[in-house]
Amino acid sequence: MSSSESDVLVDSFARRHTYLRVSLTERCNLRCTYCMPAEGVPLQPRENLLTFEEIERLVRLFVAAGVDKVRLTGGEPLVRKDVEHLVDRLGAISGLRTLAMTTNGLLLRKKIDRLVSGGLNHLNISLDTLRPDRFESVTRRKGLDIVLDAIDLAVTRGLAPLKINCVVMRGVNSDELLDFVSLARNRALEVRFIEYMPFSGNGWSDDELVPFEEMLDQIKARHPDIAAIDDDLSPGETSREYRIPGFSGSVGFITSMTKHFCGSCNRLRITADGNLKVCLFGNSEVSLRDQMRAGASDEQLSKLIGLAVGRKKASHAGMHVIAASDNRPMILIGG
Ligand code: 5AD
Ligand code: SF4
Repeated sequence: MSSSESDVLVDSFARRHTYLRVSLTERCNLRCTYCMPAEGVPLQPRENLLTFEEIERLVRLFVAAGVDKVRLTGGEPLVRKDVEHLVDRLGAISGLRTLAMTTNGLLLRKKIDRLVSGGLNHLNISLDTLRPDRFESVTRRKGLDIVLDAIDLAVTRGLAPLKINCVVMRGVNSDELLDFVSLARNRALEVRFIEYMPFSGNGWSDDELVPFEEMLDQIKARHPDIAAIDDDLSPGETSREYRIPGFSGSVGFITSMTKHFCGSCNRLRITADGNLKVCLFGNSEVSLRDQMRAGASDEQLSKLIGLAVGRKKASHAGMHVIAASDNRPMILIGG
């Protein structure tokens, strides 16, 4: 890679961005309370979303500039029509080492084999409770059995280490940590506990946030041998990973609120409507879609991307400032 290619994605704090998250849709077949405002979100007309051609063009551009990992998100990425055709296109891009997806699992059984043969090689499944009644209150829909089945299916399809994302909310599911840990006893997966983050319309309050240290203490009381794999996060890693002797899988913590990892952030996001978002918690966005539709060349797009990356801030402003500021709801950013 020439130095001018790689510089586009290096920001003013020398962070090199190698990981791109692309949201495919603002729609979802669940309505998780922490992600979607209760009143729902106004859906954009379909023509506002990036087409597969546009997504492929952007991914090729980012890969040429140094990105080697792409994650497809949403909304729920599997509700995007013909998503497997997009996976085929992206799976064929050389230089893209990891093609990942975050899904709620509901549509996975139907699609998994096509996705894997198209090149999907990494999967996160979101699941916040193991109790059917709670599943219904957290997601405002039914479907726990289907998600549990999808988890077992994914483990058998070479998508290990499969990751299970669990957003921990006090008074909602914070009494289920040990049940979640048990999922990793005989399965090659990582259960990742995520600190609850504030986004527009999700009703976040800091008493619902369960800090990482408190989660760890709760697990230690039952599994005193639990031990960190590394003392520190490796660059670009967001999950502090722990092992319990005798367990096939592992347990991780995503500590975005109490110990942020902005210093080694390597990620950029593209929203379903084609905006480049350099920080999950920042509201600055630039429309790559509009530029492409106005006929911008690859060089012009790269320049615009480089400028946006150059404006990325050192870190987010802290949970209380975030809670008070205007951003998109998570469903419109891309989990
Ligand atoms: N806090 C933490 N994580 C969230 N996600 C969505 N909303 C939030 C939030 N408020 C993440 C979860 C979920 C994925 C789709 O997005 O990891 O699994
Ligand atoms: Fe859908 Fe995921 Fe948001 Fe839940 S968290 S509403 S599954 S996009």
